[in-house]
Amino acid sequence: HSLPSSTSSATAYHGPVVHSLGLTQLQVLPSALVLVVDGQIASLDEDVKREEVPALLASRGVEAELVLVDEGFLCPGLIDTHTHAPQYPNNGLGGALELLPWLQTLTFPLESRFSDPALAERIFRRVIARTLSAGTTTSCYYSTLHVDASVLLAQLCAELGQRAFVGRCSMNRYCADDYVEASTAASMASTKQFLAAVAGLPSTVKPILTPRFALSCTPDLLTELGDLAAATGLPVQTHLAENTSEIAEIRRLFPESKTYAGVYAAHGLLTPRTILAHAVHLDDAEREVISSHGAGISHCPGSNTNLNSGAARVLDMLGAGIKVGLGSDCSGGCGTGILPQIRDARTVSRGLAFEGLADRGLSIPELFHMATLGGASLCGLEDVGNFTPGKQFDALWVKPRSPGMWVDDGEAVGSVFEKWLFTGDDRDIAAVWVQGRRVAGSEQ
Ligand code: GUN
Ligand code: FE
Repeated sequence: HSLPSSTSSATAYHGPVVHSLGLTQLQVLPSALVLVVDGQIASLDEDVKREEVPALLASRGVEAELVLVDEGFLCPGLIDTHTHAPQYPNNGLGGALELLPWLQTLTFPLESRFSDPALAERIFRRVIARTLSAGTTTSCYYSTLHVDASVLLAQLCAELGQRAFVGRCSMNRYCADDYVEASTAASMASTKQFLAAVAGLPSTVKPILTPRFALSCTPDLLTELGDLAAATGLPVQTHLAENTSEIAEIRRLFPESKTYAGVYAAHGLLTPRTILAHAVHLDDAEREVISSHGAGISHCPGSNTNLNSGAARVLDMLGAGIKVGLGSDCSGGCGTGILPQIRDARTVSRGLAFEGLADRGLSIPELFHMATLGGASLCGLEDVGNFTPGKQFDALWVKPRSPGMWVDDGEAVGSVFEKWLFTGDDRDIAAVWVQGRRVAGSEQ
């Protein structure tokens, strides 16, 4: 990688680093040096003593500010591959309901209020700030059907420094009388208006086509969105096979499709850039449809539990070669950010194993991969997810502070990391960087 010019800003971070190199490969480096130039990782030296740092930087011809990670560790920022920004005010509700009545009684009434730009701005600012503090450096957002609110969400992600995919929901049927688009033409016109309005934003914020789910889109709307995806290469996000009543309705409305995923495939919406949320109720044939199209799945264990949807078979997805990331699915799920999803994913996977429905639970390397590198690959971001040189510096500095974390002097990094995954929270996230810019953190 090119050496920094005189106007570049360079920072070297020395200390413990934990990151994922692959599904089963967690790398723990007690004494690493990460050199960041203009927000990008210029080098990662795996084993450098403190006293060797100045000479090493000098040998690279770099004048860098040195940050000593003298407590805790650095890890990549967490990636939320599925969430709904406007639903944040409903967090914690809905646990007695299933998907379709939950949409009608709690979700559509809340989302319809985002025709009010003041309300949208107040809520979106808080969602972005809170999830950044919780360590979410990249978020795949659904907005509402409103163009103005959706554009605002994208602008606020850029302003507050969160890497994001932002989608305006396409939904021209099967919703509420006062919260639905009037026609396919009106829906596509709004999508194009949204795309034009966000085109000038920084590259950290990108639009994503968002047919809400097949029930809420007429076949011709699905076809037009599929054609647009093919023409533009834009990514796609939607929901899949979340709930058994939903699936029964899909069979009724799309009798010609053998599977739910087949509905998306038939309309050109199952692409290598498609993120399918939930996928709780799949069989081998449907997994084959997904993997053969190169699409991936956002596993949302907290939501799947809260909305009584079921236990998604993550090991079977991975076994079929499907990309899997984690999604908080606010407010189907209640947890803020991805740490709660790591825990819920482990718990749900062990529940399946206890009942003989899976060979084993998910391992820590697998869970952290889904939370970082796997999530990045699911949303088509090759330049984040770990500390490989050339990638953007999207990172957390974890310093144990929360009451549940007991850390002894000299405790091994891997052990502190495991404690944070299962007992920590945002109080332990001292600093959050996106593309080298510090955007949040509990420490001033
Ligand atoms: N299916 C369609 N819309 C939604 C939503 O907002 N949340 C969840 N969990 N599932 C959906
Ligand atoms: Fe969702």
